[in-house]
Amino acid sequence: MPSPEPVLETARLILRPPCSADFEAWAAIARDEQAMRHLGGLKSRFEAWNHFTAAVGAWHVLGFHAFSVIEKGTARWIGRVGPLHPDGWPGDEIGWTLAREAWGKGYATEAATAAIDWAFKALGWTQIIHCIAPDNASSRAVALRLGSVLQGPGRLPAPHDDDPIDIWGQTREQWFARRQPHSS
Ligand SMILES: CC(C)(COP(=O)(O)OP(=O)(O)OC[C@H]1O[C@@H](n2cnc3c(N)ncnc32)[C@H](O)[C@@H]1OP(=O)(O)O)[C@@H](O)C(=O)NCCC(=O)NCCS
Repeated sequence: MPSPEPVLETARLILRPPCSADFEAWAAIARDEQAMRHLGGLKSRFEAWNHFTAAVGAWHVLGFHAFSVIEKGTARWIGRVGPLHPDGWPGDEIGWTLAREAWGKGYATEAATAAIDWAFKALGWTQIIHCIAPDNASSRAVALRLGSVLQGPGRLPAPHDDDPIDIWGQTREQWFARRQPHSS
């Protein structure tokens, strides 16, 4: 298992495991209709709490999950980005969800780049996927910016097995072939 409290730093962001102070901003995303459009729709505060505590728990059980993303300039929590592998998931995923005020700044791609480096190096993953609804153009664009390619339709575990999703992804070799030679 990797170090229990990894902290990643990029030019504009800090990525660290979630903590209790993150919950209000997490719950605000759950009640933002536009942000939740491709994430199963609006969620109650109670559902958001269960989702949040499951994320905290996954860090303890597995040693990884999505990182909380903190904007360095403001110290605000702006979203969650990183590795996920819930039981029954179709692969090792790198996922991303940001609060709406953080969209359009390149933050999802910046955070995902650091998280992918970490997943390949610290977790030893050999390939990554992104499960993306076919009509989620913003998320597809992040996958493309990262160099991932469409692999075809996939299936999530029940009760999400009827949700249409595409699997995007790439291998470790493909990722590091585009990074600096010394970064692998
Ligand atoms: C999916 C999601 C994370 C994408 O966020 P995003 O901000 O569009 O993605 P990026 O961080 O890659 O930012 C790219 C945008 O920032 C712009 N940008 C501005 N400044 C930038 C900078 N300094 N560097 C890079 N890009 C910059 C880019 O031009 C691009 O804008 P465009 O989409 O208008 O062309 C966001 O829409 C989201 O959280 N959606 C709701 C949850 C969701 O659907 N998650 C995915 C489930 S699969």
